[in-house]
Amino acid sequence: MTTIRTGVGDGLTARQVPPPAAAVDILLDCDTGIDDSMAIAYGAGNGARFVACTTTHGNVPSATAGRNTVTVLDALGLTDVPVHVGAHRPMAQALETAEWVHGEDGLGDAGVPASTRPVAGHLAAAEIVRLAHERPGELTLVAVGPLTNLGLALLMDPELPQLVQRVVIMGGAVNTAGNASAVAEANVWHDPEAAQLVVETPWDLTVVGLEITMLTAMPTSAIARIETSQDPRARLIAAVFQHYLGVYAPIIGERTCVLHDPLAMALALEPGMATYRLARAGVELRGELSRGQLVADLRNFDPDPTDPREPGVVRLVDELDVDRFHESFLRALGA
Ligand code: RIB
Ligand code: CA
Repeated sequence: MTTIRTGVGDGLTARQVPPPAAAVDILLDCDTGIDDSMAIAYGAGNGARFVACTTTHGNVPSATAGRNTVTVLDALGLTDVPVHVGAHRPMAQALETAEWVHGEDGLGDAGVPASTRPVAGHLAAAEIVRLAHERPGELTLVAVGPLTNLGLALLMDPELPQLVQRVVIMGGAVNTAGNASAVAEANVWHDPEAAQLVVETPWDLTVVGLEITMLTAMPTSAIARIETSQDPRARLIAAVFQHYLGVYAPIIGERTCVLHDPLAMALALEPGMATYRLARAGVELRGELSRGQLVADLRNFDPDPTDPREPGVVRLVDELDVDRFHESFLRALGA
């Protein structure tokens, strides 16, 4: 077993989270996106029961993310999963997108035929609230894009935190370089106000940041397994991630890529794949150079928080069984 460590853990407060039930009811908020696509494929093959998907601006405009999410779901046979399009811009700054990373179409410009299935609606935040009331205590919210929809849902419904079982987000860069700026990770950077609303809310929030996701590059042998598999799931991902490999190869030094969003999905489905540290955190909103930075207090002066539902307390990943993660991903693709 290969264990990778972020170093955020103090060894004293690592928390093993009990394994989930066999299947986990997931509401996925995403900005599909190449690694968002990989997260959907990971979940489909590892026990996710997708109740619905909602989409946000981020990698691409929200409507494009909506079309892409339907396309990926349908390619994976998940034709009954409704997709609701959400916020088309951040709460307090102009829209910015990242086609340079994900392709002009958000799916690596790979020519994946777009599904003709219509999206189910255009009021994602309202749908998050409606589903939380329809299924109290059952839903795990997985957010792998900017957090505008979750922030709007929290502004709409003060009961939301009590209605949701767990929240897992891909976001932040604790004790490591950002990607959208020197210190800010893209999902938080795209909408810092929304991210702060999510972080300060008293719910069970796991934050999967660059401090761990940048350590999840697959071995080139895994890339080869995906590219040589005849499984339609592998062929879908092999097509859309070519553009992504081109972006990450110069960063990593090998023709491979990291797995940001799939790791958030993995830890939503199987929290025991990692150990965690609880920490008080917040999002910088005013810094000239640091707006959008997720700041976690890792000092050991004060006693570490012990209640994940304390406002402003988040779970950060300390250690990850990365081989188990990679194998679960490859198994989900039939590679
Ligand atoms: O910083 C990485 C995150 O930003 C991922 O969720 C990627 O899809 C982009 O949304
Ligand atoms: Ca994403």
